[in-house]
Amino acid sequence: MSISKQEFARRRQTLMGMMEPNSIVILPTADEKIRSRDTNYPFRPSSDFYYLTGFEEPEAVLVLVPEREHGEYILFCREKDKEKEIWDGYRSGPEGACKDFGADDAFPISDMNEILPGLLEGRERVYYAMGRDTEFDRKVMSWVNSIRAKVRAGATPPGEFLDLDHFLHDMRLYKSAAEIRLMEKAGSISARAHAKAMQICKKADYEYELEAEITYQCAREGARFQAYNAIVGSGKNGCVLHYNENNDKLKDGDLVLIDAGCEYEYYASDITRTFPVNGKFSKEQRALYDIVLDAQAAAIEKVVPGNHWNDPHDVSVRVITEGLVELGLLKGEVDKLIEEHAYRDFYMHRIGHWIGMDVHDVGDYKVGGEWRVLEPGMVMTVEPGIYVSPDNTNVAKKWRGIGIRIEDDVLVTKDGNRVLTDEVPNKAQDIEKLMARKK
Ligand code: GLY
Ligand code: MN
Ligand code: MN
Repeated sequence: MSISKQEFARRRQTLMGMMEPNSIVILPTADEKIRSRDTNYPFRPSSDFYYLTGFEEPEAVLVLVPEREHGEYILFCREKDKEKEIWDGYRSGPEGACKDFGADDAFPISDMNEILPGLLEGRERVYYAMGRDTEFDRKVMSWVNSIRAKVRAGATPPGEFLDLDHFLHDMRLYKSAAEIRLMEKAGSISARAHAKAMQICKKADYEYELEAEITYQCAREGARFQAYNAIVGSGKNGCVLHYNENNDKLKDGDLVLIDAGCEYEYYASDITRTFPVNGKFSKEQRALYDIVLDAQAAAIEKVVPGNHWNDPHDVSVRVITEGLVELGLLKGEVDKLIEEHAYRDFYMHRIGHWIGMDVHDVGDYKVGGEWRVLEPGMVMTVEPGIYVSPDNTNVAKKWRGIGIRIEDDVLVTKDGNRVLTDEVPNKAQDIEKLMARKK
């Protein structure tokens, strides 16, 4: 299961269809990153680059030149090299780039500085994401300058730079059927991994054991990488939004918040569940948990075509504020507390974000100054939370240090929505039941 060659080709065609006449796209993939001395992090191509090429090797650059006689789709990549391939693995080489990845023309990356000025010459507009990679920005400018230096000999340098992100990221916001299938798969793998973590929790001593269970369960289904660093925060660590240490002892009576999601075939999932270490919610934990769950359900109901991006957020704020007033953690009138942002002491982030090839995916949240209207094919997370700081002396002691978030990935469909991550329970009683199961 993956994206077909035809779909990659369609994406390039769509992008080229949006371009002004006589223009060129230049898009490098990600750099390899050193983790320690001569050891790298596992390489991952940049999402934009992969989205248009399906090409997974480092040191590669995509160039699109609509209506170029010798081919519109050009890839620069590493040359084949017997010796290096023995040590570091297989390389496509320019020949493979044409044969296996549909490039019309391909060249060794080492020849890029000689070839690119020729491709740029005479093109009026360059579509390029300026400012993301300083070193590559400098290269692009040096190619343009090399043409500028030859104007007296009749060369025409490009006169206009356009932001490639603007076009490409809008395309990526609308997921195709094939993309949705991959996101469902990523969601399903992660959801089942969360369920396993719940089931082993009573036997675990440390937060990292739960992280290990999640990554193990995902990896054995082909999702070797997580879409982001897993958060496993027990007790008051659950109140640290991006807690990553994951090395505290799990304590009887505490909750544990796990925010983890795998990446499958370059598509992300993002799930949070919060559950009792000993398998049974306390009265206070349960009261706050049910507010968060209600807020999430109300927000998910608002994820429908025609609603605005902000509608799910607004309703989550209302449900949480009402709930906190009812329990006495906030005092006053609900409308006023909302207006004054009083809830932000407990719920300080927004309802969610786009999700796709990147966990915090691309796509504008506002268009023309207004919140974006939700449309079929968009996928967002819905992740309300309540975090009572351990230092919050405005509330009774029994509430302090409780951190709860519930997060799912929700697809906007033609007539409503679909939750892609519902294979792990979210209701308190279902979680308790699962944790009580012998096997
Ligand atoms: N896992 C990061 C987030 O939920 O946004
Ligand atoms: Mn998350
Ligand atoms: Mn999220």
